[in-house]
Amino acid sequence: MNSFTGQHILSVNQFDRDAILRIFSVADAMQPYALRQKRTTVLDGAILGNLFFEASTRTRVSFGTAFNLLGGEVRETTGMSSSALAKGESLYDTARVLSGYSDIITMRHPQAGSVAEFAEGSRVPVINGGDGANEHPTQALLDLYTIDKEQRSLGNQIDGLHIAMIGDLKHGRTVHSLSKLLSLFDNIQFTLISPPELAMPDSVVSVMENHGHRVTITDQLSGSVSADICYQTRIQEERFASQEEANRYRGRFRLNNEIYTKHFKSNTVIMHPLPRDSRAEANELDNDLNLNPNLAIFRQTDNGVLVRMALFALTLGVDNIISHYDRDVVWHSNKRL
Ligand code: CP
Repeated sequence: MNSFTGQHILSVNQFDRDAILRIFSVADAMQPYALRQKRTTVLDGAILGNLFFEASTRTRVSFGTAFNLLGGEVRETTGMSSSALAKGESLYDTARVLSGYSDIITMRHPQAGSVAEFAEGSRVPVINGGDGANEHPTQALLDLYTIDKEQRSLGNQIDGLHIAMIGDLKHGRTVHSLSKLLSLFDNIQFTLISPPELAMPDSVVSVMENHGHRVTITDQLSGSVSADICYQTRIQEERFASQEEANRYRGRFRLNNEIYTKHFKSNTVIMHPLPRDSRAEANELDNDLNLNPNLAIFRQTDNGVLVRMALFALTLGVDNIISHYDRDVVWHSNKRL
């Protein structure tokens, strides 16, 4: 990917290593704005169409926040039933219409491939906020950005890391997209832990293996895993044929302080794309880890704003002029990351 300007961001397959590092560099430069040490009006007058046809807290709100932090305005559509899609309007027609009202569009939809189909009708760039069980490219970028930051502080780089992924690896679009991004780096060791029925799709494992990475697939969390990153996931109950089927797997792989201490290194970083299912029957990431300094889940959510600001700046071609539009912050602020 040579230039981001005017491009849709639909899949992690678009990125090479240089493109990823360029996004991370712009994300680093966004920190003073996210921390409210200064603000910018570089996108003053620009409008984001933020379309979420499936439930979301982080992705929807952080897209909006990121756009606001760059000085732009946000128009939201949430839920299928409140849009004309519920009357049978096609994704193509919806895209033609809404791209007339926006400078850029972010979209989540429950159907795999739907965001790419929408983008075909759009006259402005479209960023995929998650399409069914397929992909979640901005989550993968913020996850990898978090891995890079966390490991850099330990003196490591992405090359050579050992990544354990746990849970519903079949339906979890975040692990699909993250695995493909990690595969662009060198000498990664993947340990994939899930019930056999919820294993990582062969198509994703092939990407890892074709890049020469070591892959271990198991249905047991046993012994010492020696991973640098433990990436826990939720059972994606909304992707199962029935609630009864999903219930068979909920609670199968829990992580709490005792299990973490037994199987992982004392500096293994704990990640989860969130939301974590905190109901007793699931509780895949226990609250007793909340004060563990290796728990990076809320650093991930903060990093999501930086990465999404970077993607807006790059896609709208303002990444090199943001500081020309700097303003002072005049209210009391002591925000920390
Ligand atoms: N991680 C993630 O996509 O969270 P939301 O579903 O809240 O957007």
